[in-house]
Amino acid sequence: MSRPAKSIHGQWSSRWAFILAATGAAVGLGNIWKFPYITGENGGGAFVLVYLLCIAAIGIPVMMAEILIGRRGRQNPVNSLHSLAAEEGKNSFWKYLGWSGVLSGFLILSYYSVIAGQAMAYVFRTFSGVFEGVTADGAKSIYSALINDPERLLAWHTVFMVFTMVVVARGVKGGLEKSVRFLMPALFAILLMLVGYAASTGEYFAQGLEFLFKPDFSKLSGEGVLTAMGHAFFTLSLGMGAIMVYGSYLPQKTSIMKVSIAISIADTLVALLAGMAIFPLVFANELATGAGPGLIFETLPIAFGHMVGGTFFGGMFFLLLVFAAWSSAISLIEPAIAWLVENKDVSRRRACVIAGFATWALGLLTVLSFNVGKSWTLFGQTMFGLLDYLTANIMLPLGGLLIAIFAGWIMKQQSTEDELAIEQPRLYIIWRALIRYVTPAAIVIVFIKIIGLF
Ligand code: PHE
Repeated sequence: MSRPAKSIHGQWSSRWAFILAATGAAVGLGNIWKFPYITGENGGGAFVLVYLLCIAAIGIPVMMAEILIGRRGRQNPVNSLHSLAAEEGKNSFWKYLGWSGVLSGFLILSYYSVIAGQAMAYVFRTFSGVFEGVTADGAKSIYSALINDPERLLAWHTVFMVFTMVVVARGVKGGLEKSVRFLMPALFAILLMLVGYAASTGEYFAQGLEFLFKPDFSKLSGEGVLTAMGHAFFTLSLGMGAIMVYGSYLPQKTSIMKVSIAISIADTLVALLAGMAIFPLVFANELATGAGPGLIFETLPIAFGHMVGGTFFGGMFFLLLVFAAWSSAISLIEPAIAWLVENKDVSRRRACVIAGFATWALGLLTVLSFNVGKSWTLFGQTMFGLLDYLTANIMLPLGGLLIAIFAGWIMKQQSTEDELAIEQPRLYIIWRALIRYVTPAAIVIVFIKIIGLF
């Protein structure tokens, strides 16, 4: 299997376009919805510290590996891995790594879309002014009214899936690129404003910051470490080929290292800002830090209900969150679409209908796990919990481990050195050491520790 010089799907129009699109893929519900609630569930500071370490020592090197594999292969993850392995004289089994990525993206999107649907519902709720002067209890009951209604969740999930597939159908430049240009700066601005509001709570702001940044390792379990590592993959969109497939549309001269660092910093900042906006409110209103997946929907409306212009800014916040989720959703399904188009010879549009419908149907499990199917549990988890655990805590880290092995051990040093084209030789050596030893060892150790726990 040979590799083409360019992707058949086209290319990003510039380095900036790639940075925006990849940041769009990275920044999403993971940063604003998931990071705060899993931080709350896992005791705060120590969890955040492990997460930050994972971003630096595992996330950035794996992101560089994914982009380089994608750009060198210039095809969907399955074919890129296949042809690069063949070029290095290695087994074609590596294509199954691409496959597991396609599968992870599909599984994640099925529940991601349901949560994004909840955010969509909140755009309307917030703009309508129902949160004006709301109490903590009031906010809680408004959220539970939404999730206890399967029809409503289903309707929003359907709307979100249709939106996503329409953008994906329009292709790399027409769809993906345009949707992220204004989104990121606007989201950042509103988050800063929310942190400003949280700061006005005085002692609670201090308490929130302490919760987030003062590590107390007695609160962090082995499972918590796995969750932190899994989340580093999830939040950066790694371990499943999304960034790889975006890399395949990247112009040849762009510095992979620089863009990876830029994307990771932006993504981490958004998550930390979200945490800083939310936890002071949790303490000020005597809410539980471990409230679970409803955390942002139960806390932020309190802020919007009491700040000047809260109805407007709150509505805007949820709108931007929907957009952020949208640009991530697009990347979750892109590996599957690229594969269908390249290998099954279907049109991009048709590929979107097939993949979109399958994802939507699987999403029904998550819709029901908030209400009628709350008691359908396996290993003590709801269907939604299970999908989330399987993908974020197992499939993504495992995918990341194999990607690290591929880039560090299967590809020749010359190949990765050429593709990364890092000017300072020392930085290349550091990357290679991280990807060959540190990243795989860290992932394996965390896995062994978890298995040892059972
Ligand atoms: N990184 C996205 C987020 O934080 C989710 C995602 C995961 C997107 C994996 C693509 C691939 O919301």
